[in-house]
Amino acid sequence: MRAIFSLLWIALSCGVTMQAAENVFQFNTRSEQVFDERIRGVRNRENKDFIFGGLFPIHSDAPDSLGALCGEIRQERGLERMEAMLFALDMINEDTTILPGIKLGYDVRDTCNSETIGLDETIDLIITGSSLNIESCESVSAAGVNASVPIPTSGIVGAASSRVSVPVASLGRLFRMPQVSYASSSALLSDRARYGYFQRTIPPDTLQASAMVDILLHFGWNYVSVLYSQDTYGAPGIEEFRKEAKERDICIDYDKPIPPSISAAGYDNIVNELSQSRARVVIVFANQETVEQVLTRINSNVTLRRKFTWIASDAWARSIDLVHKFNDTAAGLYGVAPLTDHFPGFEEYFSQLTIDSNTRNDWFPEFFAAYANCTLGVNCNNTRNVTSFSRYQQGNFVPLVIDAVYTFAQALHNFLVENCDATNNGTYEWFRSNATCLGQSRELNGSSLLEYIQMVNFTSVTKNPIRFDNNGNVRGVYEILNYRATRDNNGLSYRFVSVGSWDSDSSAKRLSLTNESLQFGLEEDGSIRTVPVQSECGGCEPGSYVRPIPGSCCSICEKCDGSKYSSEHLAEECSECHVEGRREMWGNNPFMGSNSCVLIPETSVSYGEPWAAPTLVLGCLGLVCVAVTAIIFGCFWKTPIVKSSGREQMMLLLVGIACSFFLGFFYLAPPSIPICIIQRLGLWFCYSLMFGALTIKVQRVARIFYGIKRKVTYTPRFVTPGYLVTFTLIIVAIQMCLIIVSVAFISRPTVKRTIRYNDDRLGLPEGVIITCTEEHIAITVLSLLYESALIGIATVLGVLSFKYPENFNEAKYISFCTFALLIVWLGLIPTYFATQSRQEFRNAAISFFVILSACAVLVFLFGPKLYVMIFQPKRNSVEFSTHHHTATSMDAGVPMQGIGYGDGSHHSPGYNSKPPTESFPSVPLQLHDSSKPGREHDHPVKLDSE
Ligand SMILES: *[C@@H]1O[C@H](CO)[C@@H](O)[C@H](O)[C@H]1NC(C)=O
Ligand SMILES: *[C@@H]1O[C@H](CO)[C@@H](O)[C@H](O)[C@H]1NC(C)=O
Repeated sequence: MRAIFSLLWIALSCGVTMQAAENVFQFNTRSEQVFDERIRGVRNRENKDFIFGGLFPIHSDAPDSLGALCGEIRQERGLERMEAMLFALDMINEDTTILPGIKLGYDVRDTCNSETIGLDETIDLIITGSSLNIESCESVSAAGVNASVPIPTSGIVGAASSRVSVPVASLGRLFRMPQVSYASSSALLSDRARYGYFQRTIPPDTLQASAMVDILLHFGWNYVSVLYSQDTYGAPGIEEFRKEAKERDICIDYDKPIPPSISAAGYDNIVNELSQSRARVVIVFANQETVEQVLTRINSNVTLRRKFTWIASDAWARSIDLVHKFNDTAAGLYGVAPLTDHFPGFEEYFSQLTIDSNTRNDWFPEFFAAYANCTLGVNCNNTRNVTSFSRYQQGNFVPLVIDAVYTFAQALHNFLVENCDATNNGTYEWFRSNATCLGQSRELNGSSLLEYIQMVNFTSVTKNPIRFDNNGNVRGVYEILNYRATRDNNGLSYRFVSVGSWDSDSSAKRLSLTNESLQFGLEEDGSIRTVPVQSECGGCEPGSYVRPIPGSCCSICEKCDGSKYSSEHLAEECSECHVEGRREMWGNNPFMGSNSCVLIPETSVSYGEPWAAPTLVLGCLGLVCVAVTAIIFGCFWKTPIVKSSGREQMMLLLVGIACSFFLGFFYLAPPSIPICIIQRLGLWFCYSLMFGALTIKVQRVARIFYGIKRKVTYTPRFVTPGYLVTFTLIIVAIQMCLIIVSVAFISRPTVKRTIRYNDDRLGLPEGVIITCTEEHIAITVLSLLYESALIGIATVLGVLSFKYPENFNEAKYISFCTFALLIVWLGLIPTYFATQSRQEFRNAAISFFVILSACAVLVFLFGPKLYVMIFQPKRNSVEFSTHHHTATSMDAGVPMQGIGYGDGSHHSPGYNSKPPTESFPSVPLQLHDSSKPGREHDHPVKLDSE
């Protein structure tokens, strides 16, 4: 019996439920029209147990505040959502499983998307229901059995934009009016202290941003660019993204708002700037029109179209029509879209609404006329519905409006289930007079309703899970979409594939993505890319290092140039090739960044250099000349000109000259310690030998000449060849002592390796220059002074004895020689110091100057004698000389041979035995004459003989 009764009851219940499922919509019941200067709306509060206010932007905002209160009727996002609320209320009223026996009414207002109007409407919603439920003001509710007396509004569905929801939520807190918004996603509204009565069925932007950040991190992208439409959708969305990205170390490179009024050139500019970025992943938080403009430009640029991977915000994450136009560019796109944004049941309802049938919504005809672009009463089809238009697409937020209404219903339902006794047939009875129910005296007010709202946990008819967190935010569930290419016979075809989901509620891993066949767009060659593109901040190639940019989350790659290198991918600094022990290493690619070190090529002074050529040629020629001179001197060894010129002294000079010519080769030789020692010793040996021999020679001539001038009759002392050679060697020895002491103790000659940098080629090393170490500067200066003194004395004496005609005018040539040496020497000193930095130039210069000096001596001292020996052998004959000797001796009274112009032949007549005569005075006269022009000038002997 009991079982039969149960079955009967079940059957009955089913019948009732099935009847409810048929959804008898009440769009043909009339609503009361609310129309005032400041408020407008439609409502049906009669004989209802609970009234819900609704705030929808039916009209757009007034273009300017002076004109009409509201602007044009909105074709999208306004009336359709309002109908969604009415539809949801119809469903609930018909549904016996939720709020059985309870009638819900509505009071829908048009906010015109304006804060002020939204506030007006909200206040009116509160006052109309006489529910001024604040501390200082007792509720003036007079609702009782009399149905026409208004009952309080229980809650508000709305508003749409966050801009309107914010002031409304402030009022809601003041008047304890629960509010559930379906579209206000601003993070601002999560503030419980200010907006404690605010809830929403749309996940806040923070969650979408979190979902995007999770996706980025999943694929290892920490370096991205961002584009967003500068409106209430894009700007706050990206603001949340920035916050989240910053916290989780994602670097945003290019970050650009796109204003609604941007020009085509502005778009070009943005695309151009975007393409400069190294980031290859671009987040686009923008409305579809903006996205289309950007993608059009990217897609038309062949080099860019396959560069980026896009992350689409919910506004275009599922817009197949949009991305179909840009398959190449959009391929591999990842979209974040609310899990459910389409509710088929609503379409069924909406398709029944026509101007004729929809009598409860006074805005419908106006809306239809605007939508169908017709004039009411003239050419509008009163029986046509909106869904029949091909462009009709269900608004994204329709399910969320339905969720909002169901949230209130569910909260009320829970209240009734917990607090009230159901009647026999399972319904509840509500006493509007005191807002209580059968079996319970607890009054339902705003704060208790809020409690129940915050506790709801159900799955809405739209399949969205509804549960609010502590901030009044619904759990955010997103679907992750991948725009994927598949290859078939006709090439590539594209479609969106759901690849996973993101759920703010699952504490462990909010993002779950399938690992299978994820795509990341097309490669350059058109093949499908199956590994994520690299969009990392920080990784640098070997050869460069990671340098953080101050004030930025990202770093840049700086090349390791010069002597620096790095061999790792993530080097934080370059290593130095140039460390101790490997001093002569250098980066292998010093301009573009080196990843290893190479040896710098060694260079040293060498015979191959162009500037070495004159030295070498002159050196060789000089040596040949010296050899020839020596041979000729040898051949004429016994002739007067050789004898009278002081053979020993001349030979010393010749040795000095030869040594100078040789020295050039040592200065151009690759440095080694012996070479260095030879260079040091040789230079000063050659110079001191040449200068010393010359000085000694010239002093002797000068002393004799001086003696003649002063009519001194005694023979000058120390003029024998032995003395002269000894003096010369002493001079050389002094210099050499200095140098040997230096070489041995002060600055030992060693081979020095220096890296030479080339200033012209950005300081690159030219090579390792191998040179001899420098002489100590003090030694150099002392030597220079010493040699300068020698050549100075020689020059002065040369000038003084210039006119002494003896021995083939030797004095004159000695003077020329000392002049030339002085000039060369004066050239050498500055050159020596000027070439301080370039050792090889100094070496070349020194060797060149030494050779030049040797040449000067060779030419001026030996040249005239060779000339006489070879071309005027007659004058060099013993007979001539003897005759001449006799003549001069008689005329001048100077014991030429006796004084012995260094011929050292002790057998000479008159040597030591023949005292000087008194006949000196005639010589100056002769000298005077000798300065006259004439061919005799070169032949003092002849001149003297006349
Ligand atoms: C209900 O109230 C209205 C006006 O407040 C009044 O005219 C009507 O008579 C009342 N009806 C009942 C049944 O009290
Ligand atoms: C993009 O791909 C879709 C589907 O494969 C195709 O219908 C559409 O024509 C393509 N668009 C372009 C511009 O090629």
